[in-house]
Amino acid sequence: MKRRTVLVAMAAAPLGAMLPLSAFAQKPIVLGFAQVGAESEWRTANTESIKSSAKEAGIDLKFSDAQQKQENQIKAIRSYIAQKVDVIAFSPVVETGWETVLVEAKNAKIPVVLTDRAISSKDDSLYVTFIGSDFTEEGRKAGRWLVEKEKGNPGPINIVELQGTVGSAPAIDRKKGFEEIIKSDPKFKIIRSQTGDFTRAKGKEVMEAFLKAEGKKINVLYAHNDDMAIGAIQAIEEAGMKPGKDIIIISVDGVKGAFEAMMAGKLNVSVECSPLLGPQLMSVVKDIKAGKSVPKRIVTQESIFPMEVAAKEFPNRKY
Ligand code: AHR
Repeated sequence: MKRRTVLVAMAAAPLGAMLPLSAFAQKPIVLGFAQVGAESEWRTANTESIKSSAKEAGIDLKFSDAQQKQENQIKAIRSYIAQKVDVIAFSPVVETGWETVLVEAKNAKIPVVLTDRAISSKDDSLYVTFIGSDFTEEGRKAGRWLVEKEKGNPGPINIVELQGTVGSAPAIDRKKGFEEIIKSDPKFKIIRSQTGDFTRAKGKEVMEAFLKAEGKKINVLYAHNDDMAIGAIQAIEEAGMKPGKDIIIISVDGVKGAFEAMMAGKLNVSVECSPLLGPQLMSVVKDIKAGKSVPKRIVTQESIFPMEVAAKEFPNRKY
């Protein structure tokens, strides 16, 4: 039935217009995305956002999971170059060591978009734009919340810090932003600081070690993400202490798991870091392909959620 309609239309059309319909269909844009891994609730939501937005935008997505290893991300980028994809996007697990592969992409004339995490390179011609949060500001927000909370407390206030993946932009910047604020008052002291690699299991393990070494001296835990804080909460409870009361807990991301912990009174505050970068990424990819200019930096807008607002905000949370 459909076929007959098309043939009738073609018979009525002028000669020059008698091309098969498929000749007018545009080829979908091919995007190669090299993801960090699946280390946290945040990352799961980020992957889901990228996959669903690509589908919605009609973009052909090639996706790889590097299991938090830089060499796997480099391999994935090289394979996207070999496949001649239209655009490459990736969330760099660490800040350094990308020049060689990005020069290869540049020589192949494949534009690169950084999402979520930045790289540290003097050559900013290696990527078109960076879409993601201001991690230093997130660290500052965490610091400001603590300074306000402890106003009037003469101290000392002993802080333990669970850092993210060593060498990653969020670990470096969240530490820097937090320290920048708390250094204004010498009563704040970071007495232990170690990486928990952004995972629950590592967060728990390192917190156990902190508790063993410092015990009741610990007043505050600053975790660079919610997953490590959730792991640490388990360790604190197993040590017979009350998270959120005996030890104040500050973390970053604002995932549903953190909201549940806040509603249970076990986590005091979570600084928002949005993983929902998919829609922005797809629109930037389309603009690049259309030859439009895009801003060099696209910053995600974010908030902060103290435990007092958790129950009210929870129904609005998308990740
Ligand atoms: O780069 C963003 C960070 O990576 C998130 O804060 C963390 O949860 C994730 O693993």
